Amino acid sequence: MRDVNNPVSIAQLEMLEFLKHLFRLQFLLIVAAVLTGVYYNQLINWITNKAGDPASESLAVSYENSQALSSGEQLFTRDELAKFNGENGTPIYLAIIGTVFDVSKGIKHYGPGCSYNFFAGRDASVSFINGEFESYDVGKADDVISLKSNDLLSLENWQQFYRKEYKYKGKLIGRFYDEKGEPTHYHWKYLALLEQAKTAKAQAEQLREVYPDCNIEWSEERGTRVWCTKSSGGKQREWVGYPRKLFEVGASNFRCACIQEKDLDTTDVMLKQYDDCGLRAYECYYKVD
Ligand code: HEM
Repeated sequence: MRDVNNPVSIAQLEMLEFLKHLFRLQFLLIVAAVLTGVYYNQLINWITNKAGDPASESLAVSYENSQALSSGEQLFTRDELAKFNGENGTPIYLAIIGTVFDVSKGIKHYGPGCSYNFFAGRDASVSFINGEFESYDVGKADDVISLKSNDLLSLENWQQFYRKEYKYKGKLIGRFYDEKGEPTHYHWKYLALLEQAKTAKAQAEQLREVYPDCNIEWSEERGTRVWCTKSSGGKQREWVGYPRKLFEVGASNFRCACIQEKDLDTTDVMLKQYDDCGLRAYECYYKVD
């Protein structure tokens, strides 16, 4: 029983009550913090998937199915990725070289019925190069090894574009990543070829300093005309030069290069004179059949 005549003990009791409230509040906060930590992913998925929407519910299942790596990246099977195709308001994911991106914000490009919907829910890396958006062959769509050197570089540019513009989600199990999310033998091969392509490009750039591009124009009656100036190929210089065909290693076609007077009698196998065009001719004409 309280001694009402003792003000000190009343103050003590009130303080005790206050501390009890504080303790309860703290306890609730700790429980809330622990629960938030444990169910963080589910909470985020629930918020982003608009709970109650049947399409979102089916996606919540696939989120659980696709594994998450310790890095936070998700691992998708081909079937899991296929669900993210924008149908019924689902998010839109696409893969390029085995890396998965959320392209939902680009719905005007990738949404159902839009120009680039073909890429939704799959890895169709090769189509970024050949522009084939009609038929999808599971066996070939991401088989990039046989692409030409420059095409490998273009494909890498596309991948960088997605890294910059869209949210990276994870990896697709298959040609480029195994079930643990580790790069496959094929992936290493691709990276080696990409490295070669970069080296070849750097060498070609260096060669352009020595043998700059010619100017080119075309007319129906005379065909292609090539000629050099002191700034052709975008390289400012003191000399004009003479047009030659230059066959670079790995290139599928020749380019027109300007060579200096001192190189006129070169034995460089990469350089060839144009047919019916003199040693010191300033311009040459040719027709492609
Ligand atoms: C290999 C062929 C091609 C591929 C793989 C391709 C791919 C793409 C992709 C993936 C996008 C969406 C980019 C994004 O997420 O913002 C896009 C946008 C676009 N593409 Fe293509 N495209 C190709 C050829 C063409 C051609 C030939 C044209 C024009 C005749 C064209 C015109 C456009 C335009 C206008 C946009 C929209 C740009 C914007 O609104 O920001 N594309 N393309």
